Amino acid sequence: MEAKHPQDSRTVMTDLVLPSETNPLKNLFGGELLARMDRAASIAARRHSRRIVVTVSVNHVAFKKTVPLGSVVTVEASISRAFNSSMEVVIDVWIEDRESGIRSRANDAIYTFVAVDESGSPVPVPPIEPQTDLEKERFDAALRRKQLSLVLAGKMKPQEATELKALFME
Ligand SMILES: CC(C)(COP(=O)(O)OP(=O)(O)OC[C@H]1O[C@@H](n2cnc3c(N)ncnc32)[C@H](O)[C@@H]1OP(=O)(O)O)[C@@H](O)C(=O)NCCC(=O)NCCS
Repeated sequence: MEAKHPQDSRTVMTDLVLPSETNPLKNLFGGELLARMDRAASIAARRHSRRIVVTVSVNHVAFKKTVPLGSVVTVEASISRAFNSSMEVVIDVWIEDRESGIRSRANDAIYTFVAVDESGSPVPVPPIEPQTDLEKERFDAALRRKQLSLVLAGKMKPQEATELKALFME
């Protein structure tokens, strides 16, 4: 299968924060943000694989800043690395200052999706060819994150997570 670039799957979703989506402090519910990130990530995974995709794991979520009612929120997702049937999706969340228009990063997350056929069985996806320094950095780290995710899920023995172990030995 021909390699694709992270840019090919880049997905940008911009939306407002409405009153029904906030907590008593009038900030966006974490669950609502998780859902927005899942939707953007699933579109990115679909663009990369051109298959049906399902979320297999949410590997990392950092709620760094509150997102107040009325904020303009932009969720950006792209594939950082593809393995056999699985794809790591990196998601960045930005909020926009109403007066200056300056964007600041509010959150980030990493989800893993699997491409499946009509019966739900995993199918192969194209590899990723990173281009920029940031894409290369994310590509390299993705293998360690996959190993960590599989170890935590009880699907890989810690001693088999070679690249992950190397991180702690350096
Ligand atoms: C995703 C699913 C099809 C995988 O099926 P499976 O029998 O576990 O298949 P495999 O063990 O071959 O795993 C498929 C891929 O997922 C990866 N994977 C599985 N669990 C993972 C985890 N916790 N973290 C990271 N990757 C994982 C495997 O490493 C494999 O990757 P690769 O093919 O790129 O090497 C199946 O688990 C499923 O349907 N889950 C439910 C998905 C869903 O409904 N999501 C929405 C939640 S509401």
